[in-house]
Amino acid sequence: MNKDQIINIKNQAISAILEAKSKKDLETLRINYLGRKGQFSNLLKEIVKIKPEERGEFGKTINFNKNAVSQALEAKLSSIAVQEKTIFFDTTIPGDKPPTGHLHLITQTINEIIEILEKIGFAKFSYPEVEWDWFTFEGLNMPKNHPARDEWETFFIENLESQEYGKAVLTPHTSNGQLREMLRAKKPPIRMLNIAKCYRRQVDVSHAPMFTQFEGLLIDKNINITHLKGTLDYFVKQYFGEDRETRIRPFHFQFTEPSFEIDITCIICKGRGCKVCKEGWLEIGGAGMVHPTVLKNGGINPDDFSGFAWGWGVERLMMMKYSVDDIRLLFNGDLRFLNQF
Ligand code: DAH
Repeated sequence: MNKDQIINIKNQAISAILEAKSKKDLETLRINYLGRKGQFSNLLKEIVKIKPEERGEFGKTINFNKNAVSQALEAKLSSIAVQEKTIFFDTTIPGDKPPTGHLHLITQTINEIIEILEKIGFAKFSYPEVEWDWFTFEGLNMPKNHPARDEWETFFIENLESQEYGKAVLTPHTSNGQLREMLRAKKPPIRMLNIAKCYRRQVDVSHAPMFTQFEGLLIDKNINITHLKGTLDYFVKQYFGEDRETRIRPFHFQFTEPSFEIDITCIICKGRGCKVCKEGWLEIGGAGMVHPTVLKNGGINPDDFSGFAWGWGVERLMMMKYSVDDIRLLFNGDLRFLNQF
């Protein structure tokens, strides 16, 4: 007996195993090679015929090769088991169509807003939704303890405060993006679109504690109210349809001067007046010319540049378009509702 003989047996065994087609073939091979009267057992029996000092070495070689055969056999056995499990597949049977989903209508609305505003040069940016007081309020011309802050029923983050920027909040509006963008861009022209989640302590049919706003900001030389009106007119006609009109109504925000509420003509009565809208107009959201203090806080000289901004609710927009009257429908995942869009 020599080592080559042992290796030959192993090689023969492995090639036979690889060729085997069934569990039965493998069982025959197992008995033949690994069984009690199999070839490897016979080799071990013959070990007495060789010199005592070489026996250990031979024993090891035999066991090593026997193990290799045994591993190959196990591997082949499991691959045959997998094959046997594979059921015959009739490709002529018509398949089950898995139901196709679609984007949630808030995401659809966000995509539509982006598409409309990109056409006139607004680019979408993202800023922190856990934000410092300064970007949310103070830098927007609402000093600490200013009563206007009460309109934003804000969630504060416990034990998180910056020396420079004050307390941490969950953004109650997207207007933090104004300061973030001015400080990021450093220099106008700026055409920013910030679409983000907002959080307020509020729940009823038209308010959810988490909702989405989109904020536009445009800053350049010689920007005035006509640019604001033209931009929002364009947006409303693109989103709601060419027959919608807009009007601007004086209002007050700390961060814009002058400030406006924007109204659009009611879809039902087209502006004539009806039960839903009373006088023909529906309020869509706030807008205004960026306050000089806000420009300064954003590092922009109000003598050189001016701008306008608006911040509207994404859910509100969508609800106005499709006459949805309960915001909770947008968040509770009921497919009977969602599948209509
Ligand atoms: N941030 C305001 C809010 O949440 C909306 C708003 C009003 C945004 C006027 C603006 C603006 O940019 O100019 O109620």
